[in-house]
Amino acid sequence: MTTEQELGAAPMSIMDSLVRNDRGGPKWLWRSGSLVPWADARIHVNAVGHASVASVFEGIKAYVSHDGNRLLAFRLDEHLRRLYESARLVRIDIPYGVETLRDAVIEVLRANEYREDVYLRPWAFPAGIVQEQMVPAGVSCELVVDSWTFQSGLGTERGCRAAVSSWTRINEASMPPRVKAFSNYHNGRLAMIEARENGHDWPILLNERGKVSEGPGACIAIVRDGVVSTPSTTSGILESLTRETSITLLRELGHTVVERDVDRTELYLADEVFFMGTGWEILPVTWVDGLKVGEGEAGPVTRALDAAYHSVVRGRSAEHADWLTEIPF
Ligand SMILES: Cc1ncc(COP(=O)(O)O)c(C=O)c1O
Repeated sequence: MTTEQELGAAPMSIMDSLVRNDRGGPKWLWRSGSLVPWADARIHVNAVGHASVASVFEGIKAYVSHDGNRLLAFRLDEHLRRLYESARLVRIDIPYGVETLRDAVIEVLRANEYREDVYLRPWAFPAGIVQEQMVPAGVSCELVVDSWTFQSGLGTERGCRAAVSSWTRINEASMPPRVKAFSNYHNGRLAMIEARENGHDWPILLNERGKVSEGPGACIAIVRDGVVSTPSTTSGILESLTRETSITLLRELGHTVVERDVDRTELYLADEVFFMGTGWEILPVTWVDGLKVGEGEAGPVTRALDAAYHSVVRGRSAEHADWLTEIPF
């Protein structure tokens, strides 16, 4: 049995790890066509504001294989495809083909001589000092691939306390969550501040129709009477690759998975609730709004999914090798 204190401990997240004051950084990142020493990858302060508003990005993980002799980038091509889709939606024209970006990611992993699990962040943003506030379509863009190591929570006993946020999830009519844009994270950040101030770990955002959408950095699913339900991709969520992966793995494990509207009150009646995302991996929600979920620890479906996901990302499973890009040590 996990103690309440352990359950309450917020896991290291993408959001947390973005605050990296204490790290020296890797040796290299990839910027607009070549490797650049990490410390020299500077831009002018005037370039930050509007370029940041317009930028889109991806979050990708490369896991050390179970036999310890290579890195396995998980669903690399699908992440890169989503980067192009985000860029298309905000009219950023990425001047590199997918082969170049795939090579760039591999180059960054090799150049930094990583022998640990690595998080990779490719992002595209308007180049130079953008003076036109609305960042017109067609301006040239820069592309950077940065990276850092992380500690995986897969296969560990963990859980988090979530709370339904008073903030509404951004929506298709104003800021489409389908676009993986840094700007969208202001919404999640407000919800996170509220959740933390009220003593919870993570918020769960409802959409403009009052239905469950997602967390600030992950999608969500509930298990009730053996059926897994997760908000559909038109519920105000990012089209998450971990969500898609989880649906596939859960069905292979014999579970029924339904993509549908999920009500807030279903969170309170669920036997299990879990987040799914590249950064958060499979994160059990053990309390929602002060109500214990099931036994207050990860339930059997969540544990089975965690184990299956862990096995796939480390290349232990014979299945889904096509989801992995190998980078031998
Ligand atoms: C808002 C949001 N939803 C969902 C996800 C999960 O997406 P993926 O599984 O593709 O990482 C993320 C991941 O960063 C996210 O930021």
